[in-house]
Amino acid sequence: MATTSSAHRNPASRLRAPAERSRSVPNLPGLPLIGNLLDFRKDRLGMIDRVAKVGPVARFDMAHIPVYVVTDADLAHQILVDDAAKFKKSAGLQFLMPMLGDGLLTAEGETHKRHRKLLAPAFAPKRLAAYADVMVDETLVQLSHWRRGQTFDLAEELMAMTLAIAGRTLFGVDVRRDAATVAEGLELGMHAVVDSFSSFLQLGYEWPLPRHLKMRKAVRLLDDVVYRLIAEGRARGTDRGDVLSVLLMARDEDTSLSNRQVRDEVMTLLLAGHETTANTLSWTWYELGRNPQVLARVEEEVSKVLGGRRITAADLPNLPYSLAVIEEAMRLHPPAYNTGREALEDVTIGGHRLPVKSTALINIRGIHRRADYFPDPLAFQPERMFAEAKKARPRHHYLPFGAGPRVCIGSHFALMEAQLALATMVQHASVKILASTIEPEPLVTLRPRGGLPARVERC
Ligand code: HEM
Repeated sequence: MATTSSAHRNPASRLRAPAERSRSVPNLPGLPLIGNLLDFRKDRLGMIDRVAKVGPVARFDMAHIPVYVVTDADLAHQILVDDAAKFKKSAGLQFLMPMLGDGLLTAEGETHKRHRKLLAPAFAPKRLAAYADVMVDETLVQLSHWRRGQTFDLAEELMAMTLAIAGRTLFGVDVRRDAATVAEGLELGMHAVVDSFSSFLQLGYEWPLPRHLKMRKAVRLLDDVVYRLIAEGRARGTDRGDVLSVLLMARDEDTSLSNRQVRDEVMTLLLAGHETTANTLSWTWYELGRNPQVLARVEEEVSKVLGGRRITAADLPNLPYSLAVIEEAMRLHPPAYNTGREALEDVTIGGHRLPVKSTALINIRGIHRRADYFPDPLAFQPERMFAEAKKARPRHHYLPFGAGPRVCIGSHFALMEAQLALATMVQHASVKILASTIEPEPLVTLRPRGGLPARVERC
């Protein structure tokens, strides 16, 4: 899977190469009619790893639907950035539509452009700095529930914490009491999506199939929370400067956002804005549990910079090791472990023709684990994320937040939150991770399967 070093440094150079004759895409052998569907159902992540071994662009078949898995950073860059206009989000996203509707993650074309512009100020650096206080407050609230000797699922704790942070920063509302409802809704929704994706029989959402009923229940649970959140935000006035105010004002002033669109954006930001960050922190703690010398270094850095005082956004540049630990955890365990695109026309990538309407799956986790990009790729080495190491390799080899026009709008928000939360947790508590190996659960995002059992040693 090695590519030339000049192409590595400049992904565009590969695109400007003389037109290549298109070659057929190698594929993972499958069964007649169903292709690799059973494999996909049994072990999605393992199957994608196997496809990646077939080649940097390789195909598997979901019954009659071919999926082109791209495990090459240059080609991923071509699809996500250089040729972004030749693709839309993949058809697989339709299964998320009942939940997210036409929010920023799923919207296309003009709606996407308009909403991205509308929401951008809420994620601007100045605004983010104002969220830092809430992020620290909510981390401390979470820690205040912990007792020495207590065992719990740390992943669940982190999910409740990031939900509370998203609720208060983005919408000015306390959603802590809704944590269990949101968790249940998300769990049901993500399983319904995977069930739909891996089903041989594709029927409309109106059919009362078990997976559709699961999704309808998820939507009911999440809608209850989201509509209440909107009502509370509206009751408190619409010019508080948070995302909800922006959305409500856009609706009230130029009627450019319908009620339904406000709901879709709130749902998208609430879910996209907490689940992935919680998973990032869970995987970070998992790796800290396995690498005590790394944890000791994080503790040392935090103690040296902060002593016992409360962290602020201004401290973050002085905690580079903590950031590197989080970034390295996202390399090995990217919460958004892949992302799909559908070709709007025939496109040639790496000499292979992707026919119009075909699906390309950018294998983010596979790219992050390539030995020619990251030597000894399975080793947890935060040093890879030091500034000098980053400078020495092409930026696009690392893409936990995607790239191009659909790059994550919340990437700085998420990194700031993870760094503030990690430093605050290390300052006030010690937790022992009680499992040495945790399998990833590849739903819409990558979660630790069965959670992250942990014991509080100090708090
Ligand atoms: C570590 C945490 C996070 C990770 C790993 C992550 C990852 C990603 C990725 C890979 C994409 C691009 C998907 C694609 O290209 O198809 C994306 C998009 C998006 N993310 Fe995040 N995300 C994180 C946190 C957040 C946060 C905190 C928010 C909001 C507060 C957020 C909101 C969004 C939205 C709205 C989009 C769609 C952007 C668009 O299409 O214009 N994410 N995220």
